[in-house]
Amino acid sequence: MNVLVIGGGGREHALCWALGRAPSVDNVHCAPGNAGIAGVAKCHPDVDPVDGDAVAELAHAVDADLVVVGPEAPLVAGVADTVRDVGISVFGPSSGAACIEGSKQFAKEIMTAAGVPTARYWSGDDPDAAVAALDGFEPPYVVKADGLAAGKGVHICAARAEAVTAIKETMVARRFGAAGTVVVVEEFLAGPEVSIFALCDGDDCRLLSPAQDFKRAFDGDMGPNTGGMGAWCPYPLDEATIAELEQTVFRPVLHELARRDLPYRGLLYGGLVLTDRGPQVLEFNARFGDPETQVVLPRLRTDLGLLLRACAEGRLADAPPVVWDGRACVTVVLASGGYPGEYRTGVTIDGLDAVSGDDQIVFHAGTEADGDRIRTAGGRVLAVSGLGRGVPDARTVAYAAADRVSFDDMHRREDIALHAGDG
Ligand code: AMP
Ligand code: GLY
Repeated sequence: MNVLVIGGGGREHALCWALGRAPSVDNVHCAPGNAGIAGVAKCHPDVDPVDGDAVAELAHAVDADLVVVGPEAPLVAGVADTVRDVGISVFGPSSGAACIEGSKQFAKEIMTAAGVPTARYWSGDDPDAAVAALDGFEPPYVVKADGLAAGKGVHICAARAEAVTAIKETMVARRFGAAGTVVVVEEFLAGPEVSIFALCDGDDCRLLSPAQDFKRAFDGDMGPNTGGMGAWCPYPLDEATIAELEQTVFRPVLHELARRDLPYRGLLYGGLVLTDRGPQVLEFNARFGDPETQVVLPRLRTDLGLLLRACAEGRLADAPPVVWDGRACVTVVLASGGYPGEYRTGVTIDGLDAVSGDDQIVFHAGTEADGDRIRTAGGRVLAVSGLGRGVPDARTVAYAAADRVSFDDMHRREDIALHAGDG
């Protein structure tokens, strides 16, 4: 089959890489792609990933049997709907179903209706009522803009005054634009965070191996929130817990969405906190996580093309079983200095050719080719993944590979997966 992947980050590089190795896949295309993706797929840099008509036209032009939508923005914009309407199979939810990521209020409504364990919450569009609602919670207060705010709409506030400021900045000063029309105030959940991906076909689902990412910019979980600075897999959750999460979280959500005529065909990513009263859902995303995909897919032994196409066509039961490589995987993100704030781009990257071997993979996130050279073109530049017999081995392989790559102002965390397994 021919597959078209939409997006151009590290997650899409991992998707194109895994699809390229799948026996069922003949050709992989990617729009827009990046300098690393160009090594495993034919890139279409001029196609705008959020323009549904342009994506549908490209899908026809490359005779795609399957379109895989990577990032949330095209999903929320309805790109999957447009492509599905022209009769091409799509792995990625409709814009209505993608609201589970695009609106935190909607996500809470679905979870409540489906009886999914999640933080107690209040939501609404009146700033005074939001301030009053704080009295129903204990510090630390959690205040979230309802809509997509590029990962910046969540405030964890130690003091009430700080939470009031967060509400005013979000709802009155509109720091995140229309995303802050509604806010969600919720209970703080304490415990380790784990990311679980479910392949969904509208009705049925299969859970992938759990992973953990590192969201803060600096070692010791300090500094600002980022898209993710590294990840590791598998997070040690036992089979019984995973099976229970399938029954108590993922299946009820799929059924609730289907009941609302929003069948979910794509990747449902549950962000969970393992609290002392059991796992609780922090949020859902409508896509693969980045950089978790860069540690989950290198361990996948099953043909990814068959799995994603079966989901897209509502027949996951026909797909082969999901089989894992017994090794662990760790990825280290190499970022531009200053990220997630201001940073330089256009910096030449050295050492990419020095990474080789089937236990280490450099996934490109924000790169572009300039003749023979590869330059930085984003905040997160590369994700260097290593496989090893256990997490410490995988960590050693990933950091050794990352040591060979350099560019001016490069920043990485030194403690990715350092305490993996410590609980
Ligand atoms: P989000 O932008 O929704 O991914 O949230 C960013 C981060 O804020 C999450 O990864 C958590 O670390 C933290 N967070 C969000 N909501 C809560 C909560 N209710 N309790 C504790 N931490 C939270
Ligand atoms: N790694 C977090 C995310 O993809 O949202």
